[in-house]
Amino acid sequence: MGSVGKRILRTDGEEKTLGKTQFIADYQPRGCLWAKVLLSEEPHAEILNIDTSAAKKVEGVHAVLTSKDIPGTNINPLIKQDQPFLAEGKIMHPGQALAVVAAETREAAIEAVRLIKVDTKPLKASLTIEESLSSDAPRLHEDDNKPASYRIRKGDVSAGFKKAEVIVEGEYSTGYQEHAYLETQGMVAEPEEGGRMLVRGSMQCPFYVLPAVSQILGLPLSRVRVVQAVTGGAFGGKEDVPSLVAGWTALAAYKTGRPVKLILNREEDFKSMSKRHPSKVKLKLGAGKDGVLTSCKAEIYLDAGGYATLSPVVLWRSTVHALGPYKCPNVHVDSCAVATNKSPAGAFRGFGSPQVIFATESLLDELAEKLNMDPAELRMKNALEPGSETSTGHILDSAVHLKETLQTAMNNSDWEAKRKKYPEKVGTSKRGIGISSIMYGVGLGAGGKHLDRSGAFVQILQDGSAQVAVGTTEMGQGMKTVLIQIAADALGLPPEKVSLLPIDTSRVPDSGPTVASRATVMSGNAIIDAASKIRKNLLNSAAGMLNCTPEDLDVQDGWILMDNEKKYSVVDALKQLFLERRHPAAQGWFKAPETSFNESGIGDAYFTYSFMTDIAEVEVDLLTGQVDPVRITCAVDIGKAVNPMGVEGQIEGGLLQGVGYALTEEILTGPTACINNPDFTTYIIPTAMDHPEVHSTVVESYWDAGPYGAKGLGELPLMGIAPALTNAIYNAVGVRIRELPAKPERIFAELKKKTPSPGNSE
Ligand code: MOS
Repeated sequence: MGSVGKRILRTDGEEKTLGKTQFIADYQPRGCLWAKVLLSEEPHAEILNIDTSAAKKVEGVHAVLTSKDIPGTNINPLIKQDQPFLAEGKIMHPGQALAVVAAETREAAIEAVRLIKVDTKPLKASLTIEESLSSDAPRLHEDDNKPASYRIRKGDVSAGFKKAEVIVEGEYSTGYQEHAYLETQGMVAEPEEGGRMLVRGSMQCPFYVLPAVSQILGLPLSRVRVVQAVTGGAFGGKEDVPSLVAGWTALAAYKTGRPVKLILNREEDFKSMSKRHPSKVKLKLGAGKDGVLTSCKAEIYLDAGGYATLSPVVLWRSTVHALGPYKCPNVHVDSCAVATNKSPAGAFRGFGSPQVIFATESLLDELAEKLNMDPAELRMKNALEPGSETSTGHILDSAVHLKETLQTAMNNSDWEAKRKKYPEKVGTSKRGIGISSIMYGVGLGAGGKHLDRSGAFVQILQDGSAQVAVGTTEMGQGMKTVLIQIAADALGLPPEKVSLLPIDTSRVPDSGPTVASRATVMSGNAIIDAASKIRKNLLNSAAGMLNCTPEDLDVQDGWILMDNEKKYSVVDALKQLFLERRHPAAQGWFKAPETSFNESGIGDAYFTYSFMTDIAEVEVDLLTGQVDPVRITCAVDIGKAVNPMGVEGQIEGGLLQGVGYALTEEILTGPTACINNPDFTTYIIPTAMDHPEVHSTVVESYWDAGPYGAKGLGELPLMGIAPALTNAIYNAVGVRIRELPAKPERIFAELKKKTPSPGNSE
């Protein structure tokens, strides 16, 4: 019995499907002003003067605010504390906010922004990783243009390469990826009684928005309340940057004393918000003739953009994930984030791992070819298994089923037969098949361990229903449904009796960010902690009624059970609990298991890892270079799947986002790094029509420290798709793509190099 493991419908599905859900743009408090932000078009400049006088004269305008108007501190409180809410002194990237306007109408706000005059002195800009690292580059911050760097030194890589019988090397690069959440960023700030500021909006991390609003307004944290509105997609894009949007909105509300609403339009959102880090990765792998890896050397560069924001932690994840889910005794990784005068890059599903995975999984295929070995067999030979050691020297124990994901995906895709049959000509196209395997460190790991704790508040009511509050958020991934299932089982109630409350920073203590595929584990365990206290009280009352000890009893699906026999309904037992005045509510808390990472990059980097194998089949059109992702077969080890239907949904959505990253999505910038395609007409994301046929399987797994055995899933479905596709492209047409996206122009050019008339080639 119980609901964990069942395919229950997502609890927020019906309202969303019927269009009843109210997003932040639908929320309109009485007397609300409309805000708009002035964004820089320059990449790098000194600000000489911002003249707001004409803007202030526009009828209906209540405030035109610059950094000078900030009562608190003009810094978004993230890791390096380097990003101002509103530019002060210097412009560091196009799309940087310079001023915020609040007006009675949207039209007045637009007009006022148009009339703000900004005098600047342009400075030499640095727009690429190479430029920023060159000796004559402008120094963008105090730290030699490298806001973060890490290393891993395990074993002796030179000795490892000497021992190797085959060595392969490659350089890989990737560009920005835009999150393309359907709901753009938006906030409403309302001054509340008691001098409090209430901020409501679209976000992943209310506990990042909270200190940000406190900091810009100079208010104690206790006078700021942050409530998450229903959030229409995020994917990492609403991790850090909503703090800026909230800061601008709260500043305008504070200055005008009125509620203020700020909803970015798509162009503003594209230009001013975070994206996936562009990257360059140099990789070298050595192996024996048997395919066993002897050495791995990686150099990783992430383009951080104008401010460090989340780059240090994104880069840390790149570093730990550089070798992928494989055993290798000798590992040498150097990584750095590089400051440029471009949009600051931030969190995006995978968080620094898709870039390195693209490199590792591509180069492994080159290694397999050199060894004349099946690429799946090569992966199987080197795959992490229980008792083996990661690149940081972490010895894995519980829930390590990478090999099962490989075998399952191979079986379900008919891998061996297709590897024999492909490449195969189909009309003007050729068909090929490719594979990738990945691991993902669940939670913040040693790079963010002080934030890796979460709270929950649970109360059971007289009618046998329960309310649950947590500090992690729903952004479309299905967290609410999963946590309701966990709470239901932990309390012994049917899931329809459990209601998950809106996420509000005043309900639970700081629970860290909703990132890193951590919500199921962190909030799930916090709920179990709270529920176990209530369950104890309930069973004590029931035991009194039955003249037994609480240990003789269990509670499941709304019934008190003794020897599996229904004795009382929970509602009847609750009558007794309330008569006896036992506590029907509890706070729960979960602190993540210990993690570590020393100066040499050695340690138990994450508390657990999820694993996945993707096998992609493609058809590459020889006349156009167009790639059709025909089918993706995948298998995951995520511990226990709390809701298998939710898992399938996450996989289908995530892998489609991976298809876009691999094949079509590209931010186009002009000579000043301004984004030239800030819309869905020219920034091409896949739609339902581009969806490959998907076959996904969850392999049997159970993680001891997870809620009912669960690990995490959210980010994995995207992460390995690009190399699975580019490996399939290579299998189909012999073109090795080392730069994403694998757009038709790129493939066509390579096909042309191979043969003068690609249309006639076999
Ligand atoms: Mo996520 S990319 O860790 O917000």
